[in-house]
Amino acid sequence: MKTLPDLYNQEQLAFCQSLPKVELHAHLNGSVRASTLRELAAEKQIDPELCKLIEKGDRTLAECFGIFTLIHQVTTSISAIQRITREVLEDCAADNIIFAELRTTPKSRPEHGLTKQTYVEAVLAGIDAFSEQNSGMEVGLLLSIDRRESAEEAMHTVTLAQQYHSRGVSGLDLSGNPTLGSWTTWRPALDAARASGLHISLHAGEVYRPAETSQMLEWRPDRLGHMCCLDEQLRSSLLASHIPLELCLSSNVITESVAGYPDHHFRQLYHAGHPVVLCTDDSSVFSTTLSREYALAMAAFLLDRREMLMLAKKSIDYSFAESHIKQRLHTAFDRAAAKIQHSSAS
Ligand code: IMP
Ligand code: ZN
Repeated sequence: MKTLPDLYNQEQLAFCQSLPKVELHAHLNGSVRASTLRELAAEKQIDPELCKLIEKGDRTLAECFGIFTLIHQVTTSISAIQRITREVLEDCAADNIIFAELRTTPKSRPEHGLTKQTYVEAVLAGIDAFSEQNSGMEVGLLLSIDRRESAEEAMHTVTLAQQYHSRGVSGLDLSGNPTLGSWTTWRPALDAARASGLHISLHAGEVYRPAETSQMLEWRPDRLGHMCCLDEQLRSSLLASHIPLELCLSSNVITESVAGYPDHHFRQLYHAGHPVVLCTDDSSVFSTTLSREYALAMAAFLLDRREMLMLAKKSIDYSFAESHIKQRLHTAFDRAAAKIQHSSAS
């Protein structure tokens, strides 16, 4: 495994663990516990080499998509989908996350008796199972359109998001291998989603595709993810747009979308006052936690405790939660922040 130097010290990590946090960019199947993957793989008698590959730390962006294919071979049953959803949420709660907005791609897998609809219901059942046992963390859900999908498949996912809006599906995400497909394929589905009041986040600029990235910016999604590979013109358009940006430091460095932590575009955007939110992307695939991502940012960009608190608090406003939930989150955040400040002062 390529060893990435941990830039932060234990004190910074402990502080970031104590921070109440909001996770806005976590793919369900990229966040599955390694122990659960091993167990599910054994039940299905899948080659243990699979798990070794998942546990290998360094990987290119292209290799990541190979890993998702392997993970998807294991998480095929309704019970496995419910379980991984509940466990991912438990892990978020253990990391002091007060709002987790997960995202996942509904999958039609007739060979496993799974439809896109039963997939979504399994995820919602996993969320319900978590919420019955845990009262401290709010949960949101986005349905992802995979860039391998056709216009019709994308529209089907939008229809499901509309159908399950009242059950907590607040929007759509566009993700998947960024070298595949074309924006014009999914745009009509995303237009329909937006027209019906759903929020949209787009993975954009993960690889250098300036024409597509420019069209996505012009479309003005509610949030963007990554935006690593931009030219000067796109960078100024992003800044002028003020569209909140989900940034995933480990993911971008491990997949070599950016050269290293200190070079990450977080620095420039943060100092320019652009709305940014730190996220994990795929905590299992990139062996990270949200606290660790915060600690990496604290160390790499020389941020102090007050700046970290503000960074975490502002991310509440970029979430797709309804305003009464945001208010509740701000109250919970302020209470926890006051305790942290009190204990640092004493
Ligand atoms: P799922 O949607 O729950 O199955 O989570 C895994 C899926 O998320 C992958 O198959 C990709 O489509 C998507 N995904 C995860 N990480 C990335 C990323 O870094 N870029 C683009 N898509 C991603
Ligand atoms: Zn992502």
